[in-house]
Amino acid sequence: MTRRLAVLISGRGSNLRAILDAIAAGSLDAAIAIVISNKRDAEGLSHARAAGVESVHLAPGGYPDRDGYDRAIVDTLRPLDIGLVCLAGYMRLVGPVLLEAFPNRILNVHPSLLPSFPGLHAQRQALEHGVRVSGATVHLVDGSLDAGPIVLQAAVPVLDDDTVERLSDRILVEEHRIYPDAIRTLLDGRWTVNGRRVVRTPRAGA
Ligand code: GRF
Repeated sequence: MTRRLAVLISGRGSNLRAILDAIAAGSLDAAIAIVISNKRDAEGLSHARAAGVESVHLAPGGYPDRDGYDRAIVDTLRPLDIGLVCLAGYMRLVGPVLLEAFPNRILNVHPSLLPSFPGLHAQRQALEHGVRVSGATVHLVDGSLDAGPIVLQAAVPVLDDDTVERLSDRILVEEHRIYPDAIRTLLDGRWTVNGRRVVRTPRAGA
C-alpha cells in the first residue's frame, strides 16, 4: 500500500498535528499528501500549512447532496495515490461514494471505548453514564456511525472529580498516541478484516 495519507478535518486538528509530529519524528513512515477541511476556518488547516502540506477547503454548500460532496473528495484524492484516508475530527458522515473508493482504507478516531458512547459528546456520555473507564478508539470506517472494525484502543480511567474538559484532555493524549500507531499498523499491511475483527498476521518467519 502506498504510504501517502489524506487527512480530513473539521476543526482544531490536534490529531492531524500528532500525525504530522510522528512523521517528522521518524516514528511513522508516511507522508500526508493533502488535508481537506469542510470548514473554511478550521484551525487544523494552519497546522497543515505550517508543515508545508497541501490543504484544501471544500465547502459542502457547493454540492447538491452528500454523494456530490464525497465525489468531490474522491476526485481530489484520486490523482494523489492515497493509501489511507484518516478522519481526524471530521464532523461529517462518510457516504457510500467515499467508502467504495477506499474500502477498508478509511480510519477514524473516537473519544470513547467503542462500542460504548458513539456519536457526539462521547466524553459527556461517559461521565453521565458513570463508567469508571473510558478511552480512545481508532477504527475502520464503514457505513455505520462509529461502529467499524476496531484497530486500536486505549483505556483512560474516569476520576471522581472529572469534568468533561479534564476527561477529554486525558483521552486526547491517548488519541494522539494511538492514531499514529494505528496508521503504522495498517500501512504495514499485515492485517485482514475477519468479520468485525481486524486480525494482525505475523511477519513471515516470525
Ligand atoms: C477528537 O476528540 C476526536 O476523537 C473526535 O473529535 C476530536 C477532534 O479533535 N472525533 P482534533 O480536531 O483532532 O483536535
